[in-house]
Amino acid sequence: MDLAVIGTGYVGLVTGACLSDVGHNVTCVDIDESKIEKLNQGISPIYEPGIEELIEKNAKAGRLSFTTDFANAVKKSKVIFIAVGTPPKDNGEADLSYVENVARGIAEAATETKIVVEKSTVPVETGEKIKQVLEHYNPHNVKFEVVSNPEFLREGSAIEDFSNPDRVVIGTDSEDARNTMREIYKPLTENILFTDIRSAEIIKHASNSFLATKISFINAVANVCEKTGANIEHVAKGMGLDNRIGKSFLNAGIGYGGFCFPKDVDAFVRLSEKNGYDFAILKEVQNVNRAQRVAFVKKIESSMWILKGKKVAVLGLAFKPNTDDMRFAPSIDIINNLLLEGASVSAYDPQARENAKEIFGDKIELCDSIYETLKDAEALILLTEWKEFGEIDFEKVKELMKGKFVIDGRNFFDEAKLKEKGFIYKGVGK
Ligand code: UGA
Repeated sequence: MDLAVIGTGYVGLVTGACLSDVGHNVTCVDIDESKIEKLNQGISPIYEPGIEELIEKNAKAGRLSFTTDFANAVKKSKVIFIAVGTPPKDNGEADLSYVENVARGIAEAATETKIVVEKSTVPVETGEKIKQVLEHYNPHNVKFEVVSNPEFLREGSAIEDFSNPDRVVIGTDSEDARNTMREIYKPLTENILFTDIRSAEIIKHASNSFLATKISFINAVANVCEKTGANIEHVAKGMGLDNRIGKSFLNAGIGYGGFCFPKDVDAFVRLSEKNGYDFAILKEVQNVNRAQRVAFVKKIESSMWILKGKKVAVLGLAFKPNTDDMRFAPSIDIINNLLLEGASVSAYDPQARENAKEIFGDKIELCDSIYETLKDAEALILLTEWKEFGEIDFEKVKELMKGKFVIDGRNFFDEAKLKEKGFIYKGVGK
């Protein structure tokens, strides 16, 4: 089927590449010419494992193309996915101006029936608004069907998540659109939940907010574990073995970050408030998440006592492994607080170096290897659990570091092994 995807960010690019990979003809559109130029050379603007291979394969096969020619892409496609950004405004609400612009552009360019699919994360009622815009600016009197099809992929495992979805959610009141969407997703899954548009929109908000709640809950339990001498890892395992709870998203640590959870939880709180409901649980989820970062810095301080003038080595800057993304990463707050206390910070991340450079400038020393980062450091602070940190040679580290502190924000290292080697180890919730 001929499809257009508007916006080549995480969601748009992965959607376009994966849908072309199952045989659809996909045109990806962006207003950013340099991005499109790069994509046409097979260079991805985002770091995501496997994305460049997928782009190359499907572009070569003639199923995937990149363009800035919005009108032409709309004209030749039966279905148009809107996957443009919905960044937070100063008041925390989602800025929907890009979505509106795209809807208006579709209305103006279309000369025959189109199905317009909202894929960006948007507040409830956006689908209705898109419908209004499409009908209002409709010079060719075209019939439009609107679908809400929220995306649940995670950065770092985006292709795997898109290709093997737990579920696909399709919100629409049109039988035609339902059948077309079923056909599009058929090569990937037949496990589709059909709902009305508003419910599909809320499913996305509620799912992200629930996962964020799980993380804050386990972090709160970790705090109780720390105070009572229990071990959060045993506790989380014991909880997760109950199928009703499930074992995923029960890793205690420095809290959630990234461009989705912080922004989506905030938007859901505001959306509820706007509709007359005080979503107090979610406000507490946010409080716990904020406090987790502060408590971690306190833990570093209470271990090392004085930070002023001491070198601390940070491993991991991205908000999670397998991404270069540092948006709302816990590392930003934590490092800024360490700097405020007068520590000097060296840091290493396998992918986020460029983004870290933009955020911190010369305030921290960005290193090219783990061991360079650790040289002469008083403490090793782990903030992102990249797999390669599991292969660190701690005998070598002992020689390199001045101090013996290992403060592990993700409960990643083997505590017993490190203690045996003479390190002073602190995790979270144990
Ligand atoms: C999240 C959701 O998991 C996706 O389903 C959703 O599609 C996406 O947001 C979105 O709305 O676009 P993502 O932000 O890529 O995906 O990352 P996650 O893997 O969910 O991790 C989010 C944060 O929670 C990370 O900072 C991670 O370190 C933290 N986390 C996760 C924990 O602290 N503990 C856990 O047990 C799990």
